[in-house]
Amino acid sequence: MKKLVNSTQMKEIDAFAIDKVGIPSLVLMENAANQVVNAMEERISKEDIILVVCGSGNNGGDGLAVARILLNHGFQVDVYLVGERDKMTEETKKQLEIAENLDMVIWDDANEINFKSYTVLVDAIFGIGLDREVTGKHEKIIAIMNAFHGYVFAVDIPSGISADSGQVLGTAVRADVTITFGIEKIGQLLYPGSLHTGKLIVSDIGFPPVAVESVSSNVSMYDETDLFSLPRRSAYSNKGNYGRAVIVAGSANMSGAAYLSAKAAYRTGAGLVQIVTPEENRAILQTQLPEAILTTYYTDSLAEEAEQEKIIQAVSGADAIVIGPGIGTSDAARKVLDLVLYNAKSPLILDADALTIVSELYNKFPLLRNNPCARISELAHSVPKDTILTPHLKELARLLDKNLDEIKGNLLGTAALCTADSNLTLVMKDARTVVSHHEEQYINASGNNGMATGGSGDVLTGVIAGLLAQGMVASEAAKLGVYIHGLAGDVAAKEKSEYSLMASDIIEALTAVLK
Ligand code: ACO
Repeated sequence: MKKLVNSTQMKEIDAFAIDKVGIPSLVLMENAANQVVNAMEERISKEDIILVVCGSGNNGGDGLAVARILLNHGFQVDVYLVGERDKMTEETKKQLEIAENLDMVIWDDANEINFKSYTVLVDAIFGIGLDREVTGKHEKIIAIMNAFHGYVFAVDIPSGISADSGQVLGTAVRADVTITFGIEKIGQLLYPGSLHTGKLIVSDIGFPPVAVESVSSNVSMYDETDLFSLPRRSAYSNKGNYGRAVIVAGSANMSGAAYLSAKAAYRTGAGLVQIVTPEENRAILQTQLPEAILTTYYTDSLAEEAEQEKIIQAVSGADAIVIGPGIGTSDAARKVLDLVLYNAKSPLILDADALTIVSELYNKFPLLRNNPCARISELAHSVPKDTILTPHLKELARLLDKNLDEIKGNLLGTAALCTADSNLTLVMKDARTVVSHHEEQYINASGNNGMATGGSGDVLTGVIAGLLAQGMVASEAAKLGVYIHGLAGDVAAKEKSEYSLMASDIIEALTAVLK
């Protein structure tokens, strides 16, 4: 598990290294600049002509040091000082003095620069110190840099990207490569920041571990070593040891979601998978997935006790329950959801149509309109203790009765709102899925755009259900499930390409990931 930091936390690490450990800021700057140059030298040649664009903060100081080291290494390099000289930090002033002593070309006015004469740009305008919208001459130079056809390297973070949220503050540099220092920033992982970051290189500039550990962050991401937290399997075991996942999914003659979810649960290791679905789906599911136990119900007889009893029994015997994929929003679906919520005792995943039904229900109560906190609190009281919600952003907007753009602009804040005061686990599905439980948040970096395809979400619920059935704690199953699902998507995309990837390919690729 890797910790991610926001700008405040990164500044604290910087300050700890400088003030408490006593590493001079100019040493950190020199290390940072050397790492940027290393990354550049792997990608450019001595034929290149480089312009380093520097702000007046310490990011600009890093940039001036980069320019000087490139010059020392025999590159043709100039500097454009977009930041005002009188606003420079002490460190940046020192770097400027050294550059001037070396008679480097330093432009102060963008109008005098022939940008076409350069083949490589370095963005050292703003780092993690960016704290407001980019305007004026900063905005202008970023527009020029984004119209540039050569390589663009960013120092620490592309200028204009918020290190805290990944949002573009007015405008932002689109880099090909970003060299960041010490530790990944949240804004480099979340979109659109991730798009602007390009390839992210995390480099060591000598922050002592004690400085990094001095800061506690509640945001993290997995790496491959986290796969070791998979539930253990024993030679001395039987299917009962790996749990029963009950998948309440599908509607009349719509069996795909149930099939995908159930198969993914099996492929993730559940001992038994039971599908609860309308009778119309019996024949097809028996043929497609004979390994699953089938419980079918007649949608027009759901008022009868005997019919309800089938659903109640299935749910009562579950170690993990999924409700929602493909159930639709009919009266029958509402009744099934009611029965499941009323009788579920084991960890539950509330997905897709189940979330829509809940949202529509809450819209009928004036006190729950425009009141995200009340809606979450109401939901938390109507579901089992270990419930996982798996909405995509539109479903979440409906569930919270909140504006979609507001959610996109504050993903982590929205996630915290849902889980800080409840025991819910939220899986906020997006290009970078965020899992949130209490105050702890996890940003998933596995996966690719090929997974933006029908049924991919059904596979995810199945994967999480498979882990839950094997006894994983809900929040851990959600985090690991999201990570594994993304890794399987990456394996599938390598085999098939992002264009051709289908949800069933993700299921098949689970095998390689779990191996
Ligand atoms: N428009 C105009 N100016 C802005 C805007 C904006 N939209 N947003 C922020 N600024 C200004 C800030 O007000 C600030 O100026 P001020 O100091 O006059 O208030 C300046 O831009 C800050 O810019 P940054 O260079 O992004 O921030 P900082 O000086 O904190 O440096 C840092 C960031 C440490 C260089 C980091 O990004 C980095 O690269 N770290 C690498 C390690 C390193 O070099 N560490 C040692 C440096 S020395 C030290 O940290 C004290």
